[in-house]
Amino acid sequence: MKKRILSVLTVPLSMCAAMSAQGLKDAYKDYFKIGVAVNNRNVADPDQIKVVLREFNSITAENAMKPQPTEPKKGEFNWEDADKIADFCRANGIKMRGHTLMWHSQIGSWMYQDEKGNLLSKEEFYANMKHHIQAIVNRYKDVVYCWDVVNEAVADSPVYPGRPELRNSPMYQIAGEEFIYKAFEYAHEADPDALLFYNDYNDAEPAKSQRIYNLVKRMKDAGVPIDGIGMQAHYNVYGPTMKEVDDAIKLYSTVVDHIHLTELDIRINEDMGGGLRFNQGQATVSDWERTLQQDQYVQLFKVLRKHKDVIDCVTFWNVSDKDSWLGVRNYPLLFDENYKPKQAYNAVKNFDPKMDNAVILEDFKPSELNQPGQEYPMVNSQGYARFKVNAPKATSVIVSLGLGGSGGTVLHKAEDGSWMGTTDGPMDEGFHYYHLTIDGGVFNDPGTNNYYGSTRWESGIEIPAHDADFYAMKNVPHGNV
Ligand code: XIL
Repeated sequence: MKKRILSVLTVPLSMCAAMSAQGLKDAYKDYFKIGVAVNNRNVADPDQIKVVLREFNSITAENAMKPQPTEPKKGEFNWEDADKIADFCRANGIKMRGHTLMWHSQIGSWMYQDEKGNLLSKEEFYANMKHHIQAIVNRYKDVVYCWDVVNEAVADSPVYPGRPELRNSPMYQIAGEEFIYKAFEYAHEADPDALLFYNDYNDAEPAKSQRIYNLVKRMKDAGVPIDGIGMQAHYNVYGPTMKEVDDAIKLYSTVVDHIHLTELDIRINEDMGGGLRFNQGQATVSDWERTLQQDQYVQLFKVLRKHKDVIDCVTFWNVSDKDSWLGVRNYPLLFDENYKPKQAYNAVKNFDPKMDNAVILEDFKPSELNQPGQEYPMVNSQGYARFKVNAPKATSVIVSLGLGGSGGTVLHKAEDGSWMGTTDGPMDEGFHYYHLTIDGGVFNDPGTNNYYGSTRWESGIEIPAHDADFYAMKNVPHGNV
């Protein structure tokens, strides 16, 4: 009898567990894998393991498989950290993205120079490179499904006309562009089944994405075994624009069949490269910054879903803000420092596929509550609202009106310097209060009349009801009373 009760109890309990175990990887199963970069703690601590296994189905070693950690001295390999992560993946049936075989950073200098600091001959360098690449690719070929073969070899902007499009690394100085080709050939020789990627940052910046494309195109033309482009995707709440991301993906997809976002994070400040403030980000995060971050994540995943034919994996660079290489104060990930999902996590996960293909009708008209002569805000026949605000020196403009849970509608700078944006979907019919948040300051929209309610004066907008016409006051004969 006891047994029967138990089994009756366990069925619903385990069903609950299965339902609550739905993570990002499940929400995106029809689109692409959702990956994560891990350190050793992430795969040793039971609570962190829970998050990793619930949310992700591709794993990258954050540092453990890089050249320096795996071969600090010529011929002396250290597999301890890499093995721990690989064994965790083997035990849990998760395939890994290998990161990275050749990089100018985190690499023992023995790879390219002698003890006196002189660059090696091309032959010696190639022999070192081949030995290193083939050792690691062979060791992990049962669990690694793709490799970032060469990392960050393209020069940053600006590149002046006539200067090389590639980074002037020691490897480049020894062998020119050919070292990149060789790295791919050596990796392919060791594991012909692995997908081989070129990986870089500032991947959506128009000039650099063109140089990345140019390199990969030359490689393809030369018959180099390259399968994909990795967009590191270290973004921030102010950029890149979604048009830039979309354009970069379109460009890359003309030369490769596989695009991965390999190191995604969206920090709340714009600092870059050497100037990146790592741990010195601001101490607190404001609600409006959370809204910007959520919007940047939501819009990015919308673009990525649109390109699911060519995008097959999106990897977050670290599990939570606590693990982030940018430091917790840059607030870059979907899990906070306590491994709790942010509101942005829910927004990324609970997307509505139908809305991805929604067509917005271009029959916008000025809202009937606008100040005399003001064109914006506008409303269309479906109930979408469109805003335009002139704030040429602003860095962010948010309208508090938006779909439930979105925190509002984030406007973006248009070509004429104004800020524009349209709600992500139709608004409820009727009157809405709203305000603007410009760089954290709260204002009313100068386009509309102000209304008083719930103890505040705010801008007002009317989303016409579909039956507005029926109830409208009309000039009809009243007959006899
Ligand atoms: C970073 C790691 O996250 C840090 O722990 C380490 O100190 C430096 O490298 N581009 C890459 C990654 O390709 O390997 C880098 O990872 C982040 C930038």
